[in-house]
Amino acid sequence: MTFLFNSDAKRGAIFAEAFARDLPDIPFSMDPAKVDPEDVRYLITWTVPADLARYRNLEVLFSIGAGVDQLRVDAVPAHVKVVRMVEDGIVRMMQEYVTLAVLALHRNLPAYLDQQRRGNWQAIAQKQAVERRIGVLGLGMLGTAVLERLKPFGFPLAGWSRNPREIEGVDCLNGRDSLHTFLGATDILVCLLPLTEETRGFLNADLFARLPAGAALVHVGRGPQLDHDGLLEALDSGHLSGAVIDVTEPEPLPENHPFWRHPKILLTPHVASITQPETAALAVIDNIKRHRGGLDPIGLVDRDRGY
Ligand code: NDP
Ligand code: OXD
Repeated sequence: MTFLFNSDAKRGAIFAEAFARDLPDIPFSMDPAKVDPEDVRYLITWTVPADLARYRNLEVLFSIGAGVDQLRVDAVPAHVKVVRMVEDGIVRMMQEYVTLAVLALHRNLPAYLDQQRRGNWQAIAQKQAVERRIGVLGLGMLGTAVLERLKPFGFPLAGWSRNPREIEGVDCLNGRDSLHTFLGATDILVCLLPLTEETRGFLNADLFARLPAGAALVHVGRGPQLDHDGLLEALDSGHLSGAVIDVTEPEPLPENHPFWRHPKILLTPHVASITQPETAALAVIDNIKRHRGGLDPIGLVDRDRGY
């Protein structure tokens, strides 16, 4: 019964230490060439390895990240449980990033950076937090945590999901029928939806047109959810005031892509949140114990929903 770690060695060493301490009866390996494939019961990886079929006794496939779209779950045999990463480090980093992005847009940072480059010393009229409505698409582990972190600033908060959710102090809407209402009352839109067939291309010209004039976007979901031309048109027409973009398609963007130098865009290279090995190892160990005890792992992916 082996646990196979298929990611970078630095993180692997931290996992190895935690396994030796907390789950010593499960051999831990970082080298597929050195394991008997029939022994591998657990695998952690970012993408599905091409030779997955050799692990005939695999029981659980863990994603090293919170998202699972990159795993091509349909390539994983139906009896194997696929589990996304649910761990404190990812949550904390996403809270930091979205708070940073929301505050940057709220306080007109893209415009001030542009003014600085042009040597222009000029105050911009500033809205107060109570006048800036934040709307979060996706009320899962990350969307909910981000809203919690934003509460002390005093922004009116709203969220949108597929199923009904209740979060104290947050106006929660759900389902397609309420999407236009949600968008019409959102000044800073944060995308924390998983990438599925339903959310591919979700952030497009039609959606931007539903946001109030002067609204802004924080995109931390997945690259293929965003229509680049739609965003550029909305920014260049003045309908949207700014965007903080962490994920794109492709990654990295080509050298001459307009996002690199657009004065209304702050761009980061898919770093909003990164799995932290110390806390991730504990979460995976806990999940293996749950699985061995006959319980579903936390973060079990529903293959029909795609997340
Ligand atoms: P969860 O699975 O916990 O939550 C997903 C949320 O999205 C749920 O509230 C779900 O609704 C909602 N949702 C999914 N599909 C739809 C839909 N079609 N319509 C409406 N709502 C929908 O995911 P996490 O919060 O853990 O992560 C979200 C995403 O963040 C990840 O999938 C990943 O792509 C991205 N991410 C990005 C990182 C970065 O560094 N940029 C780092 C980590 C994650 P319901 O509650 O009804 O099921
Ligand atoms: C993740 C990511 O899904 O890094 O964890 O994007």
